[in-house]
Amino acid sequence: MIISSPGDFREAARRKLPPFLFHYIDGGAYAERTLGRNVSDLADIALRQRVLKGSEDLDLSVDLFGEKLSLPVVLAPVGLTGMYARRGEVQAAKAAASRGVPFTLSTVSVCPIEEVAPAIDRPMWFQLYVLRDRGFMKSVLERAKAAGVKTLVFTVDMPVPGARYRDAHSGMSGPNAEIRRMVQAMTHPAWAWDVGLRGTPHDLGNVSAYLGKPTGLADYIGWLAGNFDPSISWKDLEWIRDAWDGPMIIKGILDPEDAKDALTFGADGIVVSNHGGRQLDGVLSTATALPPIAEAVQGRMKVLMDSGVRNGLDVVRALALGADAVLIGRAFVYALAAHGQAGVAQLLDLFEKEMRVAMTLTGAKSVADIDRSMLAEHA
Ligand code: FNR
Repeated sequence: MIISSPGDFREAARRKLPPFLFHYIDGGAYAERTLGRNVSDLADIALRQRVLKGSEDLDLSVDLFGEKLSLPVVLAPVGLTGMYARRGEVQAAKAAASRGVPFTLSTVSVCPIEEVAPAIDRPMWFQLYVLRDRGFMKSVLERAKAAGVKTLVFTVDMPVPGARYRDAHSGMSGPNAEIRRMVQAMTHPAWAWDVGLRGTPHDLGNVSAYLGKPTGLADYIGWLAGNFDPSISWKDLEWIRDAWDGPMIIKGILDPEDAKDALTFGADGIVVSNHGGRQLDGVLSTATALPPIAEAVQGRMKVLMDSGVRNGLDVVRALALGADAVLIGRAFVYALAAHGQAGVAQLLDLFEKEMRVAMTLTGAKSVADIDRSMLAEHA
């Protein structure tokens, strides 16, 4: 299949993956209304076209948390990325490093911290969930620190898991799930050979290292379900703030009041996110939630945004709405599933190209020039 745009990777991934994996990444919570709005609200943002501004030497780089990024883009933490390509987290991290942007390893990755961090020549970011098992949280933080991680992404929008109804239909969960997954794997031989056979162990690398025993997909779902902590509050995060020397980003903010609380807490940044529409369906899209949050924060900490970013033009839109940088989730996993490391690198190249065109035609010479004045509503 010919890949000419960032959007092409989704269909390529759909063809290659067993359906349970495609729908796990592609789906959202409940009726998927927020998932749909994330994409459409962002795509509907109109920019002001400006001409004859002499935008030749464009600077797409940003400084974020003491790091230089060649694009204002970060690969988001996505659990089970290693099921989408052989040792998928390593491949995605290498692609990100080759293009000068950070990769964020999920708590529930297939490849453990110790496998991914040494494979790249820039520090990766690490994402931590709030879990009942505080011993696990402590030990994983120590391991991340030992592996050279500086930036911690603390995800707070999963005190309970959102129901993703597609998963029961696709075989990710539901009746006879294991048999259905086996049948799907056999009918997708390219995936079965590359990931199913050669990509083992299919394990939650960070968790099994802690529990001291291998964990499979069923354990993943069981362990996570038993470990969410709905009682969590800002106070419970204080020990992490004290234990972590580097930048700490709170991911999963959708309301200006929570953004202010994150500031009071002492966060270095937030990610305006609804978890890609996978948690509470019906909440605001991030394109809608972002402007009042950026307004409330007033530049006192970094504001990142995700959920719905599918291409380079979307990055420019998100920045115009007030973000300092974006995270991409599904977009990079589709590319990884389709063509591994090379696919993710190609995706980032396509993002860059689209950003360059958008900046040239809006008169922005650098990322700092991309602000609300670029929105058509300000014309
Ligand atoms: C996620 N996301 C996520 N977030 C997180 O903090 N830890 C995690 O382990 C995961 N796992 C995960 C799995 C899958 C399959 C998806 C699609 C997403 C959320 C992710 O970091 C990010 O917020 C969204 O993916 C952003 O939305 P888009 O870019 O996918 O629209």
